[in-house]
This record gives sequence, C-alpha cells and structure tokens, in this order.
Amino acid sequence: MKGVILAGGLATRLRPLTQVTNKHLLPVFNKPMIFYPLEIMQRAGIKEVLLISSPDHSGDFANLLKSGEEFGLKIYYGVQQNAKGGIADGISYAREFAKNEKILVILGDNIFRTDLKSAIGKFEQKDKGAVIYGVRMPTHSQQYGVIEVDDNAVVLSIEEKPEHPKSDIVQTGIYLYDERVFDFIETLKPSARGELEVTDLNNIYLEEGSLQCELLDWWIDAGTSYDELLRANNMVAEKVKAGEL
Ligand code: G1P
Repeated sequence: MKGVILAGGLATRLRPLTQVTNKHLLPVFNKPMIFYPLEIMQRAGIKEVLLISSPDHSGDFANLLKSGEEFGLKIYYGVQQNAKGGIADGISYAREFAKNEKILVILGDNIFRTDLKSAIGKFEQKDKGAVIYGVRMPTHSQQYGVIEVDDNAVVLSIEEKPEHPKSDIVQTGIYLYDERVFDFIETLKPSARGELEVTDLNNIYLEEGSLQCELLDWWIDAGTSYDELLRANNMVAEKVKAGEL
C-alpha cells in the first residue's frame, strides 16, 4: 500500500494568507497543516508517500519535509500541472509511483483521527474495490459530496454538492483504491466546474458494487474557509491538550 497526499490547488478562498504560501503549510495549532495527514500515513503503517502539490509552492514542501525521515516515511514529490484539475486529476499523477499497489489517498487539509491500519489490512485482502470515509454533518452538507446509505451501511448514492442532500453524511477526503483506479480516472470527463471529480470516480466503484463506506467520529476540512481554519485550530488545540491527538 502506497500513500498519496494531495496538497495542490490555489486556495483563493484563503487569500491573502495563501498569496505567498500553499494553504497546507499554514499553521493548525502547533504544526503546519500538512503534518496531520503525514502523521496519519505513518500511523497507518505506510512507508512511501507521494505528495502532490501545485507548481508555485512545491519547493516549500521539500524545504520543510525533506526526505520524510523525521516522519519515518520516504516522501516523494509531484507537481499537478493544472492546479484546477480536481482531485481525480491529482490522483492520476501517482500511477508510476503506485507501481500496481493499492493506494491510500488523503487530502492535505483533512484533519481527523482514526485507525486506518486495520482498515488497510482488510482492504489489502480484497482483490478489488474502494473505501470512502464519511462523517455526519447536519448543516452545510451541500458544500460537499453527500453519501446516501441504507440501514446496513450499504452506499446507495454519492452526489457532489447536491442542492437537496439525501443524507447528512458527507464524503471526506480519505480514500482507499485498488490498482485499477488510474484506468478509471482516464475514463472521467471534466465536470461543470472543469474538474475531474472524485465523486465521479467513486461512483464507478459504486456502480460495480465494490464501494464501501466507513464513518468517522469527527473530521475537519481545515482549508475550506477562514471559519473552518479557525475551528480546526481550536479543535486541534483542545484535542492535543486532552491527549486525543
Ligand atoms: C471535494 C470533493 C467532495 C468532498 C470534499 C471533502 O470537494 O469533491 O466530494 O466532500 O472534497 O473535503 P472540494 O473541496 O473540491 O469542493
């Protein structure tokens, strides 16, 4: 299992903070944001991570993280040419790196705590499929991918930013994919916002009947707005002090 962290994008919603640096390098309590997904990768037992960023600030990541030794990881760096290409486009850059292994993808601004090690262990045993992680969000779910599940936690649908959400479960930025993911991405067409959508990718697995959804207790998308960045800082400070993070 290889790790892929997506840390690209323009982060225009966080300007002027992101005028001279990448949003994933902004502080969340006592660490740069990007440390959180890296630590998750390390705890999950991942050894090699490809960090994909945008052309303008990619050197800053290497200055900060170097070879990854401090994290017990081997970090490789990639550049997503089109900063507005979307999550699935970002993942496509990992094809050679993955070398026919399954991948764990985490968006660089996602902060959460869960045991991915056992989930990965189970996923490794499967011959095909994908796993997505959801979290209950009673308000603002329209701003995310929304996952509809039945009583047995079987995924019925995933809709990207729906006007009328069918559930209060939103799709986080944590995904496990089998080796076929890169071929599936090649079949995707850009959405109305011009991106290769992760929701379209996950829907391919859903249609095949090989998509599984796990629920997280808590999760923050620290990079969406000033309010969420502030909430992330406060929540992380609380959890660190309580020894929960
Ligand atoms: C993306 C995905 C969305 C997901 C979200 C999680 O949204 O498209 O399905 O819920 O990440 O952060 P975006 O941040 O591109 O609007």
